[in-house]
Amino acid sequence: MACAYLGLDCKVYMVKVSYEQKPFRREVMRTYGADVTPSPSETTEVGRKILAEHPGTTGSLGCAISEAVEVATHTPGYRYVLGSVLNQVLLHQSVIGLETKAALDKYGIKPDMIIGCAGGGSNLGGLIAPFMGEKLRGENDYRIIAVEPASCPSFTRGVFAYDFCDTGMICPLAKMYTLGSSFIPSANHAGGLRFHGMSSTLSQLYHDGYMEAVSVEQTSVFEAAEQFARIEGILPAPESSHAIRVAIDEALKCKETGEEKTILFGLTGTGYFDLVAYQKFNDGEMSDYIPTDEELKKSIDALPKV
Ligand SMILES: Cc1ncc(COP(=O)(O)O)c(C=O)c1O
Repeated sequence: MACAYLGLDCKVYMVKVSYEQKPFRREVMRTYGADVTPSPSETTEVGRKILAEHPGTTGSLGCAISEAVEVATHTPGYRYVLGSVLNQVLLHQSVIGLETKAALDKYGIKPDMIIGCAGGGSNLGGLIAPFMGEKLRGENDYRIIAVEPASCPSFTRGVFAYDFCDTGMICPLAKMYTLGSSFIPSANHAGGLRFHGMSSTLSQLYHDGYMEAVSVEQTSVFEAAEQFARIEGILPAPESSHAIRVAIDEALKCKETGEEKTILFGLTGTGYFDLVAYQKFNDGEMSDYIPTDEELKKSIDALPKV
C-alpha cells in the first residue's frame, strides 16, 4: 500500500492482489474515509504504462508507490507517505525494539537470536535497532535473522545495487538488495512482503555480515501460523508468520542439539484481515512459487546502469 494524502482526505493505492485477497483490510480503510484503488490502475499515467507493459498484472508495492507518488506530486496540497523501506520509517518503528529491550532488560533476559519478517525491512529494522546498536559497538552479540518469502527473495537472491524503489521508475535510486524494480511476485503469493528491494540500512548491515537472511515457502509459513494459532490462541498475520516459521525451526534445532537458546521474534500483526489466504490454506488450495533464475535475471539485468 502507498498513500497520497491531504489532511483526512487520503488516497490509497493498494496492491491489486492484496485488494482482492485482503478485502477486510480494504474495507477498514474505506470505513475510515480512505479512497482505495487497486494498483496498477487506469487512474494514473504510470499505472496505465505499467498495465500496458504487464497486461493483467496483479501488481506489487513498487507499482503502488509509483501511482501514489504521481497523485501526490500532481494534486495540489497532497503529500506522499510510504510505510516501509525508508530510514525514517525504520526510525519510527524502532519503538518496537526499544520497548522490547526495556521489557527484556527488566526481567534480565538476553535473546540469543532475533528473528523478523522482512518485506521492505521496516519492522525488522525497528525491532533490531537497539540490539544492533549494541552489536555494532561490540557490547553484546546477537544472531539476527531476516525472513523473506521464497517468491520475493530480495536478500537471498537479489543483488546489492542502486535501483528504483518503484516500478514506474519515478522515485530516487537507493542502494539496496534488489530483484530489480520490474520484478513482480507471482499472483498466488498470499503472504505479503512483496517489495522487490530492501531497506538500504538493512541491506548494508546484511552485506557487511551483521545479519543473516533466509527465505521460506508460503505453505510452510501457513503451517507455522496454524501451529502458533492453536498453541498460543493468537491468529498471526501471514507476514509475521514468516518469522514464526523460522523461530519454530530454530527452536526445533535446539531441541535436537539440547542447546538452550532464547529466541526473540517479531509478531507484527493480526491474521483476521487475511482469512481468504487462511481459507485457501485450509482448503488445500495454496501452492508455492519460487521464481526461476531466468525470471530473476530478466529483472536484475534491467537495473539502472549507475
Ligand atoms: C502485518 C505485516 N507485518 C509485516 C509487514 C512487513 O513490512 P516491512 O518489512 O516493510 O516492515 C507487513 C507489510 O505489509 C505487514 O502487513
